[in-house]
Amino acid sequence: MYVAQPIAWTERGVVMLDQRRLPGEEISYTYTTYQDVAKAIREMVIRGAPAIGVAAAMGVAIGVQNSAAKSLVDLQGEFPLIVDTLAQTRPTAVDLFWALDRMKRRFAELSAQTSDLSLIRSKLVEEAKAVHLEKRATDEAIGRYGAEFMPQDGRVMTQCNAGALATGGIGTALGVIQVAVEQGKKLHVLVPETRPYLQGARLTAWELHRSQIPLTLITDNMVGHFLKTGNIGAIVTGADRIAANGDTANKIGTYQIAVLAREHNVPFYIAAPVSTFDLSIQCGEQIPIEERSPAEVTEIQGVRIAPDVHAAHPAFDVTPNRYITAIFTERGVAKAPYTESLRALAQLPERAVSSSK
Ligand code: MRU
Repeated sequence: MYVAQPIAWTERGVVMLDQRRLPGEEISYTYTTYQDVAKAIREMVIRGAPAIGVAAAMGVAIGVQNSAAKSLVDLQGEFPLIVDTLAQTRPTAVDLFWALDRMKRRFAELSAQTSDLSLIRSKLVEEAKAVHLEKRATDEAIGRYGAEFMPQDGRVMTQCNAGALATGGIGTALGVIQVAVEQGKKLHVLVPETRPYLQGARLTAWELHRSQIPLTLITDNMVGHFLKTGNIGAIVTGADRIAANGDTANKIGTYQIAVLAREHNVPFYIAAPVSTFDLSIQCGEQIPIEERSPAEVTEIQGVRIAPDVHAAHPAFDVTPNRYITAIFTERGVAKAPYTESLRALAQLPERAVSSSK
């Protein structure tokens, strides 16, 4: 199984694989300031909710590590700006705010214990590295729960990219597929290209191809046809934010896939860690939807494909809970009524989730 490495903490800085250049080029950059890490998140050098969370945690660590602060008071003065700069990058993926809250809690804990800046700096680096390290075990646990729901031998469909590139582990939706294949299931994956940013065509196809998992790339407007005629056994996608009632935000286009899946009696599953839950909001209408540049619609990789006209680009949509068959998490599987099942999973003690590697 091929596992892409989207991000790494190194002594030289935060190293990220530039996902905008995949699959044609594998280029990595090393970031040494929190401002540059924030820019890399905003400009989608790194993307995918859990991976954005990892990058945010590392952004805080590098911001504190390279801060000119000479005292704890100075650092406490600077810390909110570091966090706020990262928080302003992208609004929908709640893992970003989950990671920032975790780093804020850790900084508060440490600041209450010591004013030794070098200790605080090294402990925050440790915390950011732990956020990254946990992704593998979390994804594998999600994979084990979800693999049971995949057909023994058949076609499955996904949307966007919810692979290792998007999490820093083995992937959520693609992790379910990878674990199922490792368990001996024969899966062929239909991969919608996922306009406008083409995460399906560029990233998911690349990861599956490298793992030698059979796939067929389709355009987004072929989804209905293949759900009607293609004998699809299941759909599994990732998520960017899951509201308390189970309404789920994911890449634009996911909602229409869910509606068509219901029309053709194909089970529609979400694979996501508990860090993607936002139980502070009751339903999907309250999920902030990122509006990105229209140029990402009128151009493909810098080539204009439309005249100079107005274009819309909501980057995510919300699938109402009634279309979701189940939600796979690292702590178990949630089913309707989601208000109860999600709360129950969230309240489960965070136990060390074992990784097979
Ligand atoms: O705009 P992106 O590429 O960050 O959108 C990513 C998605 O919608 C993913 O499906 C989601 O973040 C889950 S990633 C495990």
